Amino acid sequence: MNERLQNEIESLRNEIREHDYRYYVLSDPIISDYEYDRLVKKLEKIEAENPNLITPDSPTQRVGSDIAKEFNSYTHSTPMLSLSNTYSEEELFDFDRRVKEILKGENVEYVTELKIDGLSMSLVYKEGKLVTAATRGDGTTGEDVTLNVRTIKSVPLKIADDKLKKHGVSGFEVRGEIFMSLESFRKLNEERELAEEKLFANPRNSASGTIKLLDPRMVAKRGLDIFTYYFAGDSKELTTHDESLQLLKELGFKVNPNYRLCKSIDEVIKFCDEWEIKRDSLPYEIDGIVIKVNSFSQQKRLGSIAKSPRWAAAYKFKPKQAVTKLHTITWQVGRTGIVTPVAELEPVFLAGSTISRATLHNYDELQRKDIREGDKVVIEKGGDVIPKVVEVIMSGRDKGSVPAVPPSACPVCGAQLFKPEGEVAFYCINNECPAQVKGRIIHFAHRGAMDISGLGEALIDLFVELNYLHSYADIYSLKEKREELIKIDRLGEKSIDNLLAAIEKSKEKPFDKVLFALGIKYVGAGAAKKITDEFNTIDKLLKATKEEIESVYEIGPSISESIIKFFGNEKNLELLNILKKAGLRFEKEAVSSSSGKFKGKTFVLTGTLSKLTRQEAEEKIIAEGGKASSSVSKKTDFVVAGENAGSKLDKALKLGVKVINEIEFLELLNS
Ligand code: IVH
Repeated sequence: MNERLQNEIESLRNEIREHDYRYYVLSDPIISDYEYDRLVKKLEKIEAENPNLITPDSPTQRVGSDIAKEFNSYTHSTPMLSLSNTYSEEELFDFDRRVKEILKGENVEYVTELKIDGLSMSLVYKEGKLVTAATRGDGTTGEDVTLNVRTIKSVPLKIADDKLKKHGVSGFEVRGEIFMSLESFRKLNEERELAEEKLFANPRNSASGTIKLLDPRMVAKRGLDIFTYYFAGDSKELTTHDESLQLLKELGFKVNPNYRLCKSIDEVIKFCDEWEIKRDSLPYEIDGIVIKVNSFSQQKRLGSIAKSPRWAAAYKFKPKQAVTKLHTITWQVGRTGIVTPVAELEPVFLAGSTISRATLHNYDELQRKDIREGDKVVIEKGGDVIPKVVEVIMSGRDKGSVPAVPPSACPVCGAQLFKPEGEVAFYCINNECPAQVKGRIIHFAHRGAMDISGLGEALIDLFVELNYLHSYADIYSLKEKREELIKIDRLGEKSIDNLLAAIEKSKEKPFDKVLFALGIKYVGAGAAKKITDEFNTIDKLLKATKEEIESVYEIGPSISESIIKFFGNEKNLELLNILKKAGLRFEKEAVSSSSGKFKGKTFVLTGTLSKLTRQEAEEKIIAEGGKASSSVSKKTDFVVAGENAGSKLDKALKLGVKVINEIEFLELLNS
């Protein structure tokens, strides 16, 4: 083996690991993104040329291509305990009294930490390398989610040798809290809303939902993070919790900086009060403070009862709720015609902002909670920007109040409403309803779709009212109206020219974004991508039958029916023609070369490959003129099955598609 090359690879990896640490753990990068990308590209290139030198702890190997069928269970070496809760100053004094009673009046120091609202995770390292990451489960046995946790950039895959040596550790367990920042949470929900997927109620649910996804590539995209708060090593003698936090930091783990060593319970209470006020200034959610006895020998003497230790407690914050008056219930109409109730409230200050509206979700929920105009209601703010009405204070209800009724007609255009079977929502049947028209244009121009910067809600409202826009297709003829538009108050020449330039630029958006932008019910960004991977031109999609569309992996009947219905509508076909003429992309770019040994052949990769990453394999297929598809159909020529191949392999066998292994694939490539 070429020793020089191996040394070069390892030192490049160490350099990248150090920059990852500075960026993801310390938030203090010392090189530019550009320089960082160059280092990673360099490593990727050497690894691609020498696939036998790829190791799982390489920074390039965070996201594998394995898709698991289920998680294995994992038994913790020592149980993961939970904490007993306290809710007031008195209960904190009680806790302190109990601790001191058992310790016979000894002096006690406490460490106070933020209680991160996420899910706890155990990270097991052997020889300084991450070998297992497992959820808490019932405390004794959790689930092995290593592949997913590996994608979290603030979790080190390997601890630098000099650090291990310095502290005399190699095998150890670290525990911490996995969480999703408010920013990532809002971004995720925004995407889900556009895709008409169910929204996550708060960052904690989205973090735990994400960690249970079977596809690590999806996990990698969602921006999970970790704060660690526990270390147990094979050889390391530590005497206090404070020391273990210090050690975690020195080993390169992310520790929340807002902890304090308190000399008395009064200081603990002060810390709790401070953070109850400051909690909204944090970019992630906390639901309380954790109080831990600092000395390990004292912790040992205090021991545990049932599932929680006597040496620690949680102080839980009061929920972010407020009581206010609900003046009226209004009904909003979305782009698909869906009509949702909204509570117009007496403005009230809650957790950092003034609230005057709250969502009531749908009519069923309104009925279930019996929410009426004039009621006194409890509102709550989760990680969401949109607050919700939790319940009615019945004792405050007016005698004359009447149950809320759904509107008998569309509140915007007056058209009839209907309620599809099996759905809780009412819909406006008028496709031309101004609210729907605006909603569709907003969706079309949105960042996740055609990404026309400058064309936001307010401007769309204005253009619809001034009759410049009747549908999203009109966006592309705005340039013919330039002279009129620059005369509109508040707009002016420069902003119109910027807008027209952004509109021109949007024509470069790939086919899958265009398909998503059309606003077909149930066709979210992900579904659009899968569909265009299979049907690479709009004409193919227009000709496809319901069954053919459903044969695409993960595309079900509601999506296929919705697509058939959408393209069965003359008006939509007219819009499509205008967009085509305007020059939007209705074909997936011809990525494959027109010659090469795989010309005209379709490959599907499944399972883990050992010599190549999935991306490299795909690139090689395309370079040889072939197509790399994500789903198996009768048209597939080869399925390349790596280790742990799952449902795609089953499907290939069922359809009689030729299956080859990685070695055979490489032979084919090099033949
Ligand atoms: S210590 C016995 N520290 O809160 C020690 N837990 O109800 C237990 N949590 O399961 C864990 N932030 O998921 C600890 N700084 C922190 C924490 C924390 C959040 C969670 C953790 C635990 C739960 C306890």
